[in-house]
Amino acid sequence: MRGLRDFIVMRGGGLVRRGWRAVGVAAVALALTGTLLHDAASHAREAAASGADNGVTNSTTNSTATREINASITTSANPTEIARGAYLAKAADCAGCHTAPPRIPQPGAKPVATPPFAGGLGMGSPFGTIYSSNITPDPQAGIGRYSYEDFARALREGVARGGKRLYPAMPYPSFSKITDDDMHALYAYFMHGVQPVPTPAPTTRLPFPFNQRWALLFWDWVFAPTGQYRADPAHDAQWNRGAYLVQSLGHCGACHTPRGPAFNERGYSHSSSTYLTGGTNDNWFASNLTADPGSGLGRFSADDIAAFLKAGHGGGLVTFGSMVQVVEDSTQYLSDADRAAIAAYLKSLPPRAPNGRFNANSRAAQQTVRALRTGDVERPGAGIYATYCARCHQMDGAGVPQKYPRLAGNPAVLGASSTSLVRLLVEGGESPHTLSGPEPRKMPSFTDKLTDNEMARVLTFIRNTWGNAAAPVTSRDVSRVRAKLGK
Ligand code: HEC
Ligand code: HEC
Ligand code: HEC
Repeated sequence: MRGLRDFIVMRGGGLVRRGWRAVGVAAVALALTGTLLHDAASHAREAAASGADNGVTNSTTNSTATREINASITTSANPTEIARGAYLAKAADCAGCHTAPPRIPQPGAKPVATPPFAGGLGMGSPFGTIYSSNITPDPQAGIGRYSYEDFARALREGVARGGKRLYPAMPYPSFSKITDDDMHALYAYFMHGVQPVPTPAPTTRLPFPFNQRWALLFWDWVFAPTGQYRADPAHDAQWNRGAYLVQSLGHCGACHTPRGPAFNERGYSHSSSTYLTGGTNDNWFASNLTADPGSGLGRFSADDIAAFLKAGHGGGLVTFGSMVQVVEDSTQYLSDADRAAIAAYLKSLPPRAPNGRFNANSRAAQQTVRALRTGDVERPGAGIYATYCARCHQMDGAGVPQKYPRLAGNPAVLGASSTSLVRLLVEGGESPHTLSGPEPRKMPSFTDKLTDNEMARVLTFIRNTWGNAAAPVTSRDVSRVRAKLGK
């Protein structure tokens, strides 16, 4: 892949060094900001999940202007189209990024949900705080004045009404693939199905050069794909539906595809060899979703994957980290047919970026399981595992169905990056709250109990026991992640 720098030099030919460098730096910096933004967004999604449930209500307005606008458009609104738009908004998780976290009126008081889609989710970046936009149909504070063309351009090209370029935190590179039909339904929903909120989202003010949004033109030009999803006649309708949902609305690659030097996703479809092979954002490593039998989905059935997307539990795995909000806000609301389509598409991806192995039948695997049962193990990390982990994950690493994930053969345990594993030990976690899944369970934080060295040992142990085989985790790996987390 050509670097942004080379590309601009090549295209610009005569552009002077200093000129392109400034543009390049600003564009890369903006892109970086965007990436961080996307990550930060995941933190405040829980709010959105609860808030967005009342998104499909008939607008009761509180400003005259809004009432007028609504009066003029309600006549043309088609309830089926609006309902379809609401569903697509879930598939794209618009609420996750466009809803502020719950307000806490005074210290100690119960948090109060903020209105869905009113924006104002503040996302920290090294350059300052960036706020998501109010995308309710309020004409002043929101997108009430957006024509269909304005709306489609914002989603597909990252250009807001009036020409302002959006940070790629807004996943427009993926949304560029949304079909016209779906774009119309989304527009109908945002204009007629969402309650207008007259409160403007706070203005984003970044210092120079990060406030030079125009520089994103170059980033868009080099990296952002254009063009709607085109069905591939070599595959059936189910596969095409899955490919469409994953690549466009679901923007799965925003987390699962590794990033290039300008923080661009390295590929937006399976035609790229790095697409969905795993990416690190916000100190969570989003797993390899190709058929790699070690760290990917190779050993899991389409039904396991569909179940995972519905309830956060599938094939003995339990979702954790930034995927929890994706399941809670988005994939749990999809139809069974759409989840099956996503699973079918993922299962069709050839194995790529292999990492780690699993062989439950190896002699070594069976010996350790036996030794662990009798408590007679000398391996580093085994004692820590027995003391702190086995009561939930079990001595044989098989976990407890619908409660605790299996660690034996778990692709997340065998991943190319141990970042998520360290972060989970440091922060603990909680399995998702869903409509159809089991009761959420907690994984405790081990910061007070284990040193960096002990964390490294227990992680190395789980990556190399019960038939698992993956690179060891060092104390330096642990301290590096802890330093980044500030914990
Ligand atoms: C991963 C986070 C994320 C998701 C998902 C997301 N957005 Fe955004 N969106 C943003 C951010 C952040 C901004 C503001 C960017 C900026 O200020 O440059 C934005 C800006 C926008 C704008 C521009 C509004 C304006 O005038 O400022 C529109 C319209 C929009 N989003 C609509 C949507 C819709 C519709 C969806 C779902 C289909 C969606 N967004 C999903 C993060 C997201
Ligand atoms: C905000 C970032 C983010 C987005 C967006 C995202 N994921 Fe994930 N995903 C993760 C992380 C982190 C993990 C690893 C933790 C886990 O296994 O739950 C993961 C894990 C998974 C797994 C389990 C893989 C395994 O081997 O354990 C599947 C399946 C999955 N994601 C599918 C999807 C699909 C399909 C989409 C798009 C609809 C998607 N993800 C969007 C962050 C994300
Ligand atoms: C009280 C029960 C409990 C204990 C003790 C516990 N865990 Fe967990 N563990 C969980 C739960 C619940 C999850 C799912 C967390 C989530 O969804 O955020 C989990 C998830 C994990 C995962 C991610 C795998 C996946 O598919 O979700 C790893 C790795 C892990 N634990 C390792 C450990 C290690 C190592 C220890 C000991 C140092 C440990 N756990 C102790 C309950 C526990």
